[in-house]
Amino acid sequence: MMKLFTLLTAAAGAVTMIGCSNDVKVTSPDGRIQTTVTLDEAGVPSLSVEVDRQMLIAPSRLGLEAADLNLASGFEIETVEKDHRDETWTQPWGENREIHDCHNEIAVKMRNPEGVALTLRIRAFDDGVGFRYEYDTPADSLLIMDELTQMNFARDGLSWSIDGNYDTYELPYREQAISAVERANTPFTFRVDDLYGSIHEAALYDYPEMHLLRQDSLSFKAELAPLPDGVKARVGGSFTTPWRTLQIGHRAVDLINSALILNLNEPSKIADTSWIKPQKYVGVWWGMHLGTQVWTMGPRHGATTENAIRHIDFAAANNIQGVLFEGWNRGWENWGGNQQFDYVEPYADFDLERIARYAAEKGIELWMHNETGGNIPDYEARMEEAMKRYAELGVHTLKTGYAGGVKGGYSHHSQYGVRHYQRVVEMAARYQLMLDVHEPIKETGIRRTWPNMMTREGGRGMEWNAWSEGNSSEYLCTLPYVRLLSGPMDYTPGIFDIYYDRAKADPGRIQWNGDNTNCSIKTTLARQIANWVIIYSPLQMAADLIENYEGHPAFQFFRDFDADCDWSEALQGEIGDWIVVARRAGDRFYLGAGTNAEARTIDQSLDFLRPGVSYTARIYADRPGDTLRTSYRIEERRLTAADTLRIEMAPDGGCAVTFEPVNE
Ligand code: NOJ
Ligand code: CA
Repeated sequence: MMKLFTLLTAAAGAVTMIGCSNDVKVTSPDGRIQTTVTLDEAGVPSLSVEVDRQMLIAPSRLGLEAADLNLASGFEIETVEKDHRDETWTQPWGENREIHDCHNEIAVKMRNPEGVALTLRIRAFDDGVGFRYEYDTPADSLLIMDELTQMNFARDGLSWSIDGNYDTYELPYREQAISAVERANTPFTFRVDDLYGSIHEAALYDYPEMHLLRQDSLSFKAELAPLPDGVKARVGGSFTTPWRTLQIGHRAVDLINSALILNLNEPSKIADTSWIKPQKYVGVWWGMHLGTQVWTMGPRHGATTENAIRHIDFAAANNIQGVLFEGWNRGWENWGGNQQFDYVEPYADFDLERIARYAAEKGIELWMHNETGGNIPDYEARMEEAMKRYAELGVHTLKTGYAGGVKGGYSHHSQYGVRHYQRVVEMAARYQLMLDVHEPIKETGIRRTWPNMMTREGGRGMEWNAWSEGNSSEYLCTLPYVRLLSGPMDYTPGIFDIYYDRAKADPGRIQWNGDNTNCSIKTTLARQIANWVIIYSPLQMAADLIENYEGHPAFQFFRDFDADCDWSEALQGEIGDWIVVARRAGDRFYLGAGTNAEARTIDQSLDFLRPGVSYTARIYADRPGDTLRTSYRIEERRLTAADTLRIEMAPDGGCAVTFEPVNE
């Protein structure tokens, strides 16, 4: 029973009120989503979510389990504080410059006989719900052994997710009935009747990542990545968990357009963000994955001075701001061995100082790359020295990687991993370095608080096409509705040599990561272009060998494209089937569309364009009926916001459009 009812007035208009019931409710500003917290006879809290008066999440248990203290039961509600926020904030970069945060909040304050104070903070938005635990206990420190949070679906439906794994997100999607899912990572996207939703988390800083583990047919519990001794998290006596989030939409694309994850994160901790700049980049990268170049020094070394100069010249000539060279530093011989890399010393055939000077002269950003192989202790011992050196060289962008098992039996996604990734973000901010993290911890919106955390991999990226069965067009039609809900992805799009003709003509091509003889890109060329728009990343790569772009008419798209944008909207699509996204940067608009293995013709209203303005639309499209995936056509038209564009896509195809205002 709720025993003590108080009326409090907190700062900034927050008012506390309690009703006389065991149930505490918070409703979204539009009144459609209602979340209810209940305490049972044993003082165990639970939460349910209704949408339009229909139960979506049936009462689901809440709480944590600690080694020596009861954090889970015996609670009585003391007060409930209510708050409401309606504000618009601005980000230095992102899909949208302006973000609207409108929510109702309740803080349900409870206490149990062990002296444990628990505030359950719940925020209700029109596009979903977030809740988190704020514990204040008599202990100095605690061992969290389990999280008891459940998500009990009221009805079955379809879901899209990757398997739960504590070390990798580079896994294929499964489309399954919710009742058939045993274990899943988040974002866990689903459709129940006419509703779309996705379960994820926000503001993950000092805690393990969360999976969903099936209890019985429609009931899941939060499962935390463990430390080697089985403890899930080591925390202080007072601590706050990440938010557990449930995004809700009435169309599949509503999930993509939701800013709920960002809204649940704190404002930027970096005061001066002037050095943080979205950019397009090219690099010495794809050749290694194809097996025509190598990371180590020798006749096939990719990162040579000569090659670096060639890439800088190419970037300067093609409106590309950044260049990345993998294999520039000593230690790649140890990859897969003792995983000891040198983060400062270049190989003898890579004249780092000359390259840095040349890039600066040409106005090009030189990126550095740190593959750690998962050797976190070694990286932590050396990263500050390395970052200092990069700052001296005028470098502002660092790609990191963790391809290998983490030393000491730790998993990538455990609290140990989360803390490490965060230490890197904070140190990089001190040296004014933007980050592109591969084999990362999942994005939970911390880019709002740490806007140097630009992009990450955290999914099967382009590299899989070089040495595996590759990423299908259906995978690419699922990615925006699952992985991309968490934040930007460095997928490294845009391969033009679809069948790897150049690599196959090289008799010395190696197989460094399995049989690559039958590998190829699984989409049309137009879809490769469209992915630059669809797969948002503020650091956006043209991933092919630059010789495959030289003289190619379709590369004009990337020249005209802007990695920065002011506004974005996912316009239409269904999970696994198709997707259309539009973005605006300055006065130009970009559109990207993609289909799965089915040819598809769709009509897209252009009412997102500025009314009354005429645009030159350059359309990069498939050639319907032509089965060659390299076939494409470029068409120029004059279009306005009053027009509807008919988009015809081949199987595995797509379409990309640039809209440039006509000066009349
Ligand atoms: C895996 C990364 O995803 C890829 O981009 C990189 O080239 C290799 N590791 C080597 O660091
Ligand atoms: Ca990877």
